[in-house]
Amino acid sequence: MLTVNFDNLFKVYNQDPKHGVSTPELENYKTQFDNYKDKILSRKQGFLDLGEQNIQHILDYAASIKNKYTDIVILGIGGSMLGPVTILDTLKKQETPKVHCLDNIDPDLITKITDTISLQTTLFLVQTKSGGTPETLAQYFYFRDILQTANLEIANHFVFITDPEKGYLRKIANQQNIPSFEIPDNVGGRFSVLTPVGLLISALVGLDIQKLLNGAKDTKTRFFDETNFEAYYLAVSQFLLSQKGKNINVFMPYSSRLKTLANWYTQLLSESVGKKLDLNGNQVFAGITPLPALGATDQHSQLQLFSEGPHDKLTLFLEVEKFENQVKIPTLWQNDDNLGYLENKTFNQLLAAELAGTKASLTENNRPNITLKIDKINEHSLGELFMFLEISVAFLGELLNINTFDQPGVERSKVLAKEILIKFSS
Ligand code: PA5
Repeated sequence: MLTVNFDNLFKVYNQDPKHGVSTPELENYKTQFDNYKDKILSRKQGFLDLGEQNIQHILDYAASIKNKYTDIVILGIGGSMLGPVTILDTLKKQETPKVHCLDNIDPDLITKITDTISLQTTLFLVQTKSGGTPETLAQYFYFRDILQTANLEIANHFVFITDPEKGYLRKIANQQNIPSFEIPDNVGGRFSVLTPVGLLISALVGLDIQKLLNGAKDTKTRFFDETNFEAYYLAVSQFLLSQKGKNINVFMPYSSRLKTLANWYTQLLSESVGKKLDLNGNQVFAGITPLPALGATDQHSQLQLFSEGPHDKLTLFLEVEKFENQVKIPTLWQNDDNLGYLENKTFNQLLAAELAGTKASLTENNRPNITLKIDKINEHSLGELFMFLEISVAFLGELLNINTFDQPGVERSKVLAKEILIKFSS
């Protein structure tokens, strides 16, 4: 079960109040929990309910095409890609089908993937909430063209995951009978991992998607419906510390399998709270900058900065209690006192000691840090993490009094890119 530990915020506060958060500071916000919860509910966002959706149609479709394709190519970008990539990187075990995530419009990447797959046995998942993102549409047109040239049946090679009614792809799906799945109207891109955006590919690679949803549902019950304040307190801590000049949030899992979750969280936090205007229309230029890192790897890259650089960061550690494997470090040295600390130890212990050491050294240096902990990595705990982080970001948006669920800056760049492209000569 997901737990959160705020102790090091309090320790830092006791050493130097301007760098930490005190228990009373946090608990002062307790009385506002229901108020902020009501505000979130008033936004009528669907992500909170995704743990309770019916997934039979996804399971049926996945069963109906089992073993039919050797390769699956996902076309998409932003929230339509980061969720699936996170699930695959964290949980995928099966060798087949091979999954290729085309998360960019780099012509070399597109060519590389085209050269790798056999068209006859490849399924393309075209994932776009709006159904109109130029990057994804361009990828779709490219692969549709080569499938048509090869005289392959389009409806056998494409699945669209898009808005239930709006957008170009929905229109084509309806007109041409292309299999499709719906991203609920009230679920935005970066909150869509637990819609068919993340669930379909998960089912296709043999993951237990009901367990992912159960994790999300349990988390919503614990940290939103009931009065467990940790998701809210995470947001309050981020908010209070940003007022104390800590405007960068490091997200640092101590597990290579969870590395991509830091990228998913980067989008969630950036696009949700980076806003020019508040809800009253005032210019506030709100935002907290996420910084993904990986333990123990980045202890030898970024940690020096986190520990002794500017006092502008809050670090969120993500700890895994029990790894799937226990791996011993062999004792191959003799009579070397300097290496005695490794004797009869496992990599699991070494990683745990590195995490504990990093937390202690940051705390010692008045660097605030919070630890999220899961028992082990599986569908349930990943579902917990997705929902917990989404809920806490929703609270943070309310604390900042901004619209968490729009992204005018992203939309503007899409408009300008189209205008610029029109001016290019072919
Ligand atoms: O969170 C968001 O809404 C965006 O980042 C989108 O995920 C991204 O722009 C891709 O949009 P779409 O899914 O409509 O193709």
